[in-house]
Amino acid sequence: MEKNARIRRLGRNEKTPYDLLLLADESIESINKYIFDCEIYVLELENKIVAEYALQQINDEEVEIKNIAVTNELQGQGIGKMLLKDAEDKARLRGFKSIAVGTGDVATKQLNLYQKCGFEIFGMKKKFFVENFPSPIYEDGKQLKDMIMLKKKL
Ligand code: COA
Repeated sequence: MEKNARIRRLGRNEKTPYDLLLLADESIESINKYIFDCEIYVLELENKIVAEYALQQINDEEVEIKNIAVTNELQGQGIGKMLLKDAEDKARLRGFKSIAVGTGDVATKQLNLYQKCGFEIFGMKKKFFVENFPSPIYEDGKQLKDMIMLKKKL
């Protein structure tokens, strides 16, 4: 995998890989609330986009990962960690002081990933998933309610 893998910024004229973004978000409508304000980075394997993350500048000091996803068949092989590290490296190089990410209150796998990579919980957006989506969202049979916010110093 490593031999042909490369992470690059998606060009402005290229299609947004919504199929991947939708693995991490509920609808194109909710993605479109932030995606035009983000830089999208994609991982390509043999010229096929298989993973992505979207980075948004919050202020002079902080960026936030608004969406991160790995195609289903390649999950659990370390690509998520690799993308997080890439996002951190890019943000650090550009002089940002911290990087943030948010996840659902019942998203155990994602929380594991972020905490293993050194992100720490700093806050919660209460009822985010209840108030921002037209119908309830369930993950592993549990309703998503709050968004947990994590941050890592760079
Ligand atoms: N159960 C529990 N934890 C898991 C897991 C599973 N099935 N798969 C991965 N993890 C956790 C582990 O802590 C793992 O660390 P370890 O390898 O030291 O055990 C860590 O995640 C990193 O795993 P990695 O293989 O790098 O993750 P990935 O390539 O599957 O990418 C996601 C992680 C979340 C980006 C990917 O699974 C995905 O695209 N999911 C759907 C979209 C999504 O939920 N995006 C995040 C929205 S907040």
